[in-house]
Amino acid sequence: MAVDLLLGLQWGDEGKGKIVDVLTKNYDIIARFQGGPNAGHTLEFDGIKHVLHTIPSGIFHEKALNIVGNGVVIDPVIFKKELDNLEKFNIDIKSRLLISRKAHLILPTHRLLDAASETSKGKAKIGSTLKGIGPTYMDKTGRNGMRVGDLELDNWKERYRSLANKHQAMINFYDVDIQYDLNELEEEFCTAVDVLKKLTFIDSEEYIHQAQKEGKTILAEGAQGSLLDIDFGTYPFVTSSNTTAAGACTGLGVAPNKIGEVLGIFKAYTTRVGSGPFPTELFDKTGEDMGRIGNEFGATTGRPRRCGWLDLVALKYAVQVNGVTQLMMMKGDVLSGFKTLKVCTSYKYNGEVINHLPFNIESDNVTPVYTELKGWDKDLTKLTSAEELPEELNNYIDFLEKALEVPIKIVSVGPDRTQTIYR
Ligand code: IMP
Repeated sequence: MAVDLLLGLQWGDEGKGKIVDVLTKNYDIIARFQGGPNAGHTLEFDGIKHVLHTIPSGIFHEKALNIVGNGVVIDPVIFKKELDNLEKFNIDIKSRLLISRKAHLILPTHRLLDAASETSKGKAKIGSTLKGIGPTYMDKTGRNGMRVGDLELDNWKERYRSLANKHQAMINFYDVDIQYDLNELEEEFCTAVDVLKKLTFIDSEEYIHQAQKEGKTILAEGAQGSLLDIDFGTYPFVTSSNTTAAGACTGLGVAPNKIGEVLGIFKAYTTRVGSGPFPTELFDKTGEDMGRIGNEFGATTGRPRRCGWLDLVALKYAVQVNGVTQLMMMKGDVLSGFKTLKVCTSYKYNGEVINHLPFNIESDNVTPVYTELKGWDKDLTKLTSAEELPEELNNYIDFLEKALEVPIKIVSVGPDRTQTIYR
C-alpha cells in the first residue's frame, strides 16, 4: 500500500492536527516524520480542545497505531507532559504509540543553546519557539546527536555528559546572559527519560515497510509548513527540517515510489508566527479582525500570529514542491463578513511582475499584486454539506482551484471535528 502524506502549505498552523484526526478513521497508522515540540497540533471534539506537540494526531482513535518517525526530534520532558495530559483519557499508550529508535533527542542544553543563539542575533532573530530544534538538528547533521535507541545502551549517561559539556562550552562562547540551573534541568530530563523508556521503541522504517507489505493504510503527518522548510522556505527564517513531501521519505524511510496521495492543507488567508518575510501581511484593522475572529495565537508559544490575505504565488510554489494531489481549505468561516477578499496572484519584484517565489523575498523588494473577489456574509460554522456553501465562497474556491490546478476536497468551517465539509 502507498503511504499518503498530509502537509501544511503555508507557514504552519494551517490546521493539520484537526484534519489528521478527521481522516484517521481511514488509516491503520499515523506517522509523524519531522519537527518536534515546536509544533502544536490542535484537535477539538466532544467540547474538549487538545494540543499535541510530538505525539501524532491519531492518538485518540482506538484502532490507529501512531508512530513517531526517525525524522522527528523528541524532548523527553515535553513528551512526558503530553503523556501526563493524556492520562485522563485512558488511552493504552504503550500499545498505541511506537517510537523510532533513530529519532534524535533534544537535551536541556539544546534548548539553552537555542536561547543563546537567538539572543545573540538581536533584531535578526528567527523568532524560534526556543524548543531546541535548530541545535538538535545541527547535532544530527554534525553527527554528534543522541538518539532514542541510545537510551537502551548502558553508557547513555556518559554520552549525554560528554555532549552536554560540549554544549555548555558553546553557550559560554555566545557570551549572552542566559540564566539556568543545569542540575535542575538534568533531573527533570532524567525523570522524563525513565518515562520515555517505558514506551515501545521500534526500528520504524522496517515496521513501516512490513506494514505496507501487509496492506496497512498509512498517513504521514507533517508539522510546520512548506514555507518553513529548511531548503525551500523563506531561509533563514525557517525551521531546521524538511517539512515538504521529500521529508516524509527521509523521516520515515518510505521510498518515493511508495507515496500515494499528497494532501495539502492551507488556510483561506495567511498567517505567520515568528520573524521573516510575509508579502501579504496586513497591518490594518482587516488584519486585526482576521487575528481576532480566527483566534490566531500560537498553540505552542501563545504568540499572536501575523495575518494577511491569501498568497497564491507562495501557495502555488508549495503545491509544486510537494506534488499536492488534493487540497483542504481551512478556516473558511473566519472570512465570513469581509465585504471584499483579496488574493495575491503575482508579485512586483524589483520593478518586474513575477509569478514565482524568488530567492530572497523581503518587504522592501516584493509588493503583492491582488485580485479582488466578493466576500460572503453567511455564518458557515453550522453548515454540514457543500450544497449549503454560499455562492461567493464557491466562486472563491473555483478561483483557487483554477489557479492551483488541484481540487479542494475539504472545506473546514470551524475547529471541531464535525465542522468539516466534503466536496
Ligand atoms: P523553530 O523551529 O522553533 O526553531 O522556529 C523557527 C521558525 O519556525 C520560527 O519562525 C517559528 O515561529 C516557526 N515555527 C516553528 N514551528 C512552528 C509551527 O508549528 N507553527 C508555526 N510556526 C512554527
